[in-house]
Amino acid sequence: MHRSILFICSLFLCLNYSAQAQAPTFTQVEPGIFKAIIGKPDNFNLLNAAGAIPYHAGLVEMGNAGFPLNKADISATVVNGKTYLRFPLTRTEQLYGFGLNFQTVYQRGKILTLHVDNYAGKDNGRTHAPTPFYVSSSGYGVFINCARYITVYAGTAVRADSKTPAEVLDRNTDKNWKSHPYSDAVEMLIPAEGAEIYIFAGPTPMDAIRRYNLLNGGGCLPPRWGLGFTQRVQRLTDAAGVTAEAKAFEDKGYPLDFIGLEPGWQSKSYPCTFDWDKTRFPDPKALVQDMLKKNIRLNLWTNPYVSPEAPIYKTILPYTASHTVWNGLVPDISLPKARDIFFGQLETGKVDIGISGYKMDEVDGGDGYLWPDVAIFPSGHTAEQMRQTYGLMMQRYVTELYHKRNQRTFGLVRASNGGGASLPYVIYNDYYNHQDFITALINSGFAGVLWTPEVRASKTSEEWLRRFQSNIFSPMAMINAWSSGTKPWTFPDVAEQVKQLANLRMQMMPYWYSEFAKYHFQGIPPFRAMNLEPGFNSTQGIKVVQTKTNLEENPYEESVSKEIKDQYMAGEYLLIAPMFTGQNSRTIILPKGKWFDFYTGKFAGDGEVITVTPGLDKIPVYVKDGGIIPMMPPLLHAPKANQQVDLEIRYYGNKPGTYNLYDDDGETFNYEKGDYSFRQIKVTKQNGKITSSISNAAPGKPNSFKNITFKMMTE
Ligand code: GAL
Repeated sequence: MHRSILFICSLFLCLNYSAQAQAPTFTQVEPGIFKAIIGKPDNFNLLNAAGAIPYHAGLVEMGNAGFPLNKADISATVVNGKTYLRFPLTRTEQLYGFGLNFQTVYQRGKILTLHVDNYAGKDNGRTHAPTPFYVSSSGYGVFINCARYITVYAGTAVRADSKTPAEVLDRNTDKNWKSHPYSDAVEMLIPAEGAEIYIFAGPTPMDAIRRYNLLNGGGCLPPRWGLGFTQRVQRLTDAAGVTAEAKAFEDKGYPLDFIGLEPGWQSKSYPCTFDWDKTRFPDPKALVQDMLKKNIRLNLWTNPYVSPEAPIYKTILPYTASHTVWNGLVPDISLPKARDIFFGQLETGKVDIGISGYKMDEVDGGDGYLWPDVAIFPSGHTAEQMRQTYGLMMQRYVTELYHKRNQRTFGLVRASNGGGASLPYVIYNDYYNHQDFITALINSGFAGVLWTPEVRASKTSEEWLRRFQSNIFSPMAMINAWSSGTKPWTFPDVAEQVKQLANLRMQMMPYWYSEFAKYHFQGIPPFRAMNLEPGFNSTQGIKVVQTKTNLEENPYEESVSKEIKDQYMAGEYLLIAPMFTGQNSRTIILPKGKWFDFYTGKFAGDGEVITVTPGLDKIPVYVKDGGIIPMMPPLLHAPKANQQVDLEIRYYGNKPGTYNLYDDDGETFNYEKGDYSFRQIKVTKQNGKITSSISNAAPGKPNSFKNITFKMMTE
């Protein structure tokens, strides 16, 4: 080709790129949150499917912060009905988030398609909560409010016209040659004619996460009983079995706050009738009321797929999708009429007789079970949009059933998405890898969701105990015995240790409850990665793993740096380092600052890597210097509204410590009207002299504590 023609062609290409690219216009919508509308976004999106209303007061309290990126480095283009987004990425940034990943914490270098799905063993974007939110180690966050399958190039793609191009090296001779050259952007492809984008200011990554959660309405605040212990019984357990289960817990002295009934409460399931089985449950109301008298609640499993034998089959038929799931109709719950019928059925004879919540199953995938992407929904929303939002909508509308009764709920769900942080549900799945369960717990804090590493069955008592240990340091302490029928005492040789752990869970209720209040009012995730902890050095004690170089197998193989995915932060002060089957000892990275053993109060280390051999009975837990952990006696059930419990305030280390102890009635939504308080706890140690105080209970507000004592854990 003639040179001048080439030049004209490339000039045309350049012009073409820039002509299409739009520099988005951002407006500050809340302090430190900036929004841009690109092209023509779908009307139906994640935030409105979730019904998210920003928690404005919390955002105001965080204060203003400027736009955290260079606006000119962000670009958006709509081409052929698709939206192309590009956000800048510097050389040293690490990226976190992009949903509930199970195997990796670092997301830089990934190509993901964010797609609600059953997790199938690979962090490829298909997961139970593929939240299109990421946070950078440089202290800002990005959220795409769009209910589509978004493809993300998280620092993988290199543009020919990059202003900060990677150095070109010679693979033949240069050891520093890389198969993945530096990429200066996070790019996204959205299969829609536009999208809403949100940028969250820092200055720290935690600040960006907090702003994201507060935009969602703040994190959920479970009822107190939700933070106790829950047992899901075998699927065909009947009313007598439920009563017997509750009695066994009571007789043996194991705490129990709610029992989960699995598919057998329904007369038919897969597809579901949403109707009690009359043989197994002749008088559900009497059972529920009897249980409530014992301070035990019931939670019901369901999936949304309507059996031809369901009482609502005929009425809901016009409002269902073109395709079935497990031979059941799929209600289009984005339609008010479908909602009236469907959630009405979940309310009548269930919520209105005292059922405390639902476990909403099978709203995630996989593809072979769920409706296909060619399914048509009567609302006109695409199958893709419904897939991305179904779990969100289930959570939202069941929560509304409780909200209108001024009663809090806490349940389980298998799919969620961006916008859902305020919805009181915990994600679970059938995948059962203990290590990966912990990585998911870490990543839940980047995704605005809660996750439980549930205990189901185990091959050995060692595995049972190890799983149980990490489970009590998670949002929902639970055995899911739907298939195995296991009980806390299933392994007699560790039954006592399991009881001690369940008791510890109960003792720590004032701590867990306060930490969830901080999730709600301040957006701070109660369970989160070490990387968010000040003074944490992720490279400490970590060797860069030099992978074997076998050019035949993979000509582009590179060394990878390891990440920390087996220890995490729980609440303000605790560092949890789970042990896994077969491990006798493990290493733990303690961030800078002094750390103390949770059980003994002894000094454990400061900004260093320690190796511990805790024995089978202990899960290593450490408390930050000045840490305060409020504890109550190990009751068998969570305290009821207006019930006062003794409070023991444990103090660790030597630094002056403060703690905001949250209190409200624990059961209703009255906190939304201001009926709550944070009490300030202070402890100082000077020349061996200890001064401790707790502010008085706010007059006219619930006061759940009596006989308050302090316990100095560190000599
Ligand atoms: C699965 C669910 C299990 C259990 C089971 C009942 O989908 O993950 O926890 O509820 O269904 O059939």
